[in-house]
Amino acid sequence: MSHAEDHEGTRRDFLYYATAGAGAVTAGAAVWPLVQQMNPSADVKALASIRVDVSAVEPGTQITVKWQGKPVFIRRRTEEEIADANAVDLSELIDPVARNENIVGEAEATDENRFLPLPPDAEGVEGEWLVMMGVCTHLGCVPLGNSAGEFHGWFCPCHGSHYDTSGRIRKGPAPQNLPVPVAAFVDATTIELG
Ligand code: FES
Repeated sequence: MSHAEDHEGTRRDFLYYATAGAGAVTAGAAVWPLVQQMNPSADVKALASIRVDVSAVEPGTQITVKWQGKPVFIRRRTEEEIADANAVDLSELIDPVARNENIVGEAEATDENRFLPLPPDAEGVEGEWLVMMGVCTHLGCVPLGNSAGEFHGWFCPCHGSHYDTSGRIRKGPAPQNLPVPVAAFVDATTIELG
């Protein structure tokens, strides 16, 4: 990747981040007066979740939102990206574990075990939503997105880790796939994290 592309990727990620911070995230502000009446553990639990409006996210783009102090990538994948993720021979994976907090136990790192299923009433392509922590599993940099790197997923420029279109580590020093946090659709266009 040239320096110019690298810079452009950074700038684009920043713009998505800024947009999400300004409008797309409906965090705990509205529920704060209510949870103040509750006991501390319920209070902490409520603030541990945020809801993200993804209605404006087009296929082939992603937004980055901040949750619990860390970036979370929410990508709406193209059908080609989904097909690429499914075409991978699992024996080629550096990390064979799904790393998906929504699945109990150690599931294998198929794409199906990593994407966020569509809600029953949603339009769209099953498998198009991928939600992952935007933190490189090597030393914690924020990888570049938008089909970056040799596997057209995410690329961490800090030490050269390449992730595929399912966020699985494929090359470089990072030891694990990008983790999938607890996430679910609460309606057709809103994802809740936590
Ligand atoms: S922190 Fe990502 S490759 Fe080192």
